[in-house]
Amino acid sequence: MNQVKSLSYKADELAIVWEDTSESRLQAIWLRDHCQMPSSRNPDNGQRLLNITDIPQDLAIETVTLEDRRLIVRFAPDGHRSEFDLDWLYDNCYCLNRQSDDRSEVSKILWSGTSFEQGLPRYSYTNFCEQPKSRLAALQVVSDYGFVLLDGVPRKPGQLLKVIEQFGYVRETNYGPFFEVRTRVDPSNLAYTNLGLGCHLDNPYRDPVPGLQLLHCLESSTEGGESILQDGFMAAKILREEDSDHFGLLSQNWVSFRFRDSNADLQARGPLIEVNDLDEVIKLRFNNRSIDTLRLPPAVMRRFYPAYRHFAEILEREQQQIVFKLQPGELILFDNTRILHARKAYSAGGTRHLQGAYSDLDGLYSSLRKLNEGS
Ligand SMILES: [Fe+2]
Repeated sequence: MNQVKSLSYKADELAIVWEDTSESRLQAIWLRDHCQMPSSRNPDNGQRLLNITDIPQDLAIETVTLEDRRLIVRFAPDGHRSEFDLDWLYDNCYCLNRQSDDRSEVSKILWSGTSFEQGLPRYSYTNFCEQPKSRLAALQVVSDYGFVLLDGVPRKPGQLLKVIEQFGYVRETNYGPFFEVRTRVDPSNLAYTNLGLGCHLDNPYRDPVPGLQLLHCLESSTEGGESILQDGFMAAKILREEDSDHFGLLSQNWVSFRFRDSNADLQARGPLIEVNDLDEVIKLRFNNRSIDTLRLPPAVMRRFYPAYRHFAEILEREQQQIVFKLQPGELILFDNTRILHARKAYSAGGTRHLQGAYSDLDGLYSSLRKLNEGS
């Protein structure tokens, strides 16, 4: 609990020196905009009830007083009174706290091929459903590492939708609520054949891209067909370290992705490496099959291809990959904006049957926060 050491103010700014010697300098308009009173915020959900245009142009701090652990600010010219809890001010002060982005690379634990020698992060499906602590731990692993394995998932068609219900909502697409991955004659999509598939992220042709993917193994009696996962944020970090110009080319130039069949023509644009306002990686798009015609200015095109090739080469490095065989009853849940997946080729003999589905990251993060509140 932080105490105030000293307090001063002028018309447009309040200055607080905290007991730990840190300092907050809070502008009048920010304070008024962040007023926590019931006239400014819905007391039930905390949503703001005022528009920025409701705040007087000539707003000024008139008086500031401290009562117990509440700071009372009175504003001119309208006499509006705001009360701020000191802990709230300390936690939300924009001088003391940088913007946090729980999707960005700095909030993650980046990994490479040797990071899981003690075993992959794995939870029992029964515990995941029945024990909030287990569900919290598994979802935290997805947030930190980008993927988790569940075992003992009943081998029933559509069961993966029940898994999604535990933390979020199904993202239904033109493939339906879930899709089948198995050998098919006359395939329209390479994922349905017995060829290997290179590292990719699914569906960059959607807007927004599905943030989560689930793959549930119902049957696996073929030789081969191992799954490969790779941390794309680590690959992007390596690219930035090896050649920052290459990194910049892929984060600053947008490309198109497209998927077409008899029922759909899906198109979306975005960078292969998406960064936030702090230049931190937050999202990747990488799919050799669905990247569309590249249309970049000629001078950029000449520089783009070496950068694209460099990133693809990093993604092919085996020391960055983990390889495992998904067994019947196992399900993998992974962040489709970060974790690239691939599949080794498998023999024509035997049967390999997976079901896949999509969900969104916001639902997972929401469940994670609620489970954390309750723990
Ligand atoms: Fe895929």
